Amino acid sequence: MKKIAIKNLAPGMFVHSVTKQRGQFKIKNQGWVRTSDSISQLINAGILEVEIDTDKTLPDDNQDSTSSTTNAHSQAQKQRYDPTQHSVSVSSEIGKAEKLYTEAKSLQEKAIESIRAGKKIAIGPFEEVADGFIDSIFRNQDALACMTRIREKDAYLLEHSINVSVLMTIFAKHLHIERDIMHQMATGALLHDIGKIKIQDEILNKPGKFTDDEFIQMKDHARFSKEILEESGLSGVAVDIAAYHHERLDGRGYPFGLKGDDIPQHVRMIAIVDVYDALTAKRVYKDGMNPINAFKIIKDDTPNCFDTELVNQFIKCIGIHPVGTLVKLKSQKLGIVSQSNFDNPLKPWVKTFYSAKHHHHTEVKDINLADKHNQDELESAIKPEDFAIDLMRFFRNSVLS
Ligand SMILES: [Fe+2]
Repeated sequence: MKKIAIKNLAPGMFVHSVTKQRGQFKIKNQGWVRTSDSISQLINAGILEVEIDTDKTLPDDNQDSTSSTTNAHSQAQKQRYDPTQHSVSVSSEIGKAEKLYTEAKSLQEKAIESIRAGKKIAIGPFEEVADGFIDSIFRNQDALACMTRIREKDAYLLEHSINVSVLMTIFAKHLHIERDIMHQMATGALLHDIGKIKIQDEILNKPGKFTDDEFIQMKDHARFSKEILEESGLSGVAVDIAAYHHERLDGRGYPFGLKGDDIPQHVRMIAIVDVYDALTAKRVYKDGMNPINAFKIIKDDTPNCFDTELVNQFIKCIGIHPVGTLVKLKSQKLGIVSQSNFDNPLKPWVKTFYSAKHHHHTEVKDINLADKHNQDELESAIKPEDFAIDLMRFFRNSVLS
C-alpha cells in the first residue's frame, strides 16, 4: 500500500481508500482507475490523497486507450496547464470577449429589472453567456482576463459579478474541472450577488463601516440570491455558489455559518475569487488594490477563512501581475504584461510602449524579463489613468498577440 497525492494518480492504479480530502465525497468501491476523466472527477470532488495497492497496478496495455501511460497522463496534465497554448491571439479574441462582456452587463440589468418587477429571471441567456465565457477562455483566457482589468467607477454591482464569473471559469480551467461543473460555476457566479437588489441602496453603497443593524441586513443578500436562483429554476453547484459565497472555513462566514468540510470545493473557490475581485475593484469611494496586496490580504485570512491549497492555486493561476496589468520597469518604460511566468511570477513577458522618463510613446517591444540577457526588471504595477493610457485601445490594437 502506498499513499499518493491525487495529482500522481494515474490510470491503471488500484485505489484502496481515500486518505485526505476536502468535503465529504465518498468513493463507493475500491477499484482500478481506468481513465483520466475518472481522475478529474476525483479531483473535482475534493480528493487530495489516496492509498493505492501497488501490487494491483495494471500494466499499460490494460488501461483505457485514451490515457495509456502515467507519462502520457502527466504530459497531458502539463499541456493543459500551459497558459501559452492558445488557439487564437488575444488581439483576435478581444472583440468577442468585449461583446460577451457587454452582453453579460445588459443581462444583469435586465435581471435586476425582472426581480424589481416581481418576475423570475430568464436563466437561458445567462447560461449562453456562461458558455460563451468558457469557449472564449479555452480559445485564449487572456482576452476576458484583460476585460476584468478595465473598470468603470460606478458599475461595481454589474462588473463584479461578471468578473467573478470570468475569474471562476479561468480558475476552474486551471484546476481541470469538467465543463459541466465549470458551466454551473460560471452561471452561478454571474448571479451570485443578485440578492443585493433586495438590500436598501443606502446600505449597499455605504462607503464606511456598517452599523450592526446594517450588517445584519447586508448579510442576507446571499440568502436572497439563493432564493432568487432557486425560484428561477437553478439548482446544484450554481445555487451553492450564490448561497454560500460568504461562508468561511472557521464558521464565521454568513448567512448560514457553514464550517470546514460542509463547504465544498466550488464554494471555497468563489469565496477566494469574490474577495479578490472586491479588493481589486475601483469603487466610487476607493481605488482598486493591486493584485499583490489583494493576495496578501487573502493569505492573511488563510487558513481561517480560505482553503490554503486553493489560495495558492488561485495565485498561481492569476499571477502576481496578471496579463493585462500595466507595469513600470526599472528603466522607466511602461508596458502591459502580455504573458505570465508560472515559474517566476516577477519576471513575466511585457510589451513596452511608453517612456515615463520622456513622456512619449515608443515603438512596441516584447521583453522577456526572465531572459538571461535582459537587464530590466519590474518596478511596480501602475494605474492607466496616471498616464492617461486607454488600455482598451491597446488591447484592440494588437498590442498583445
Ligand atoms: Fe456577496
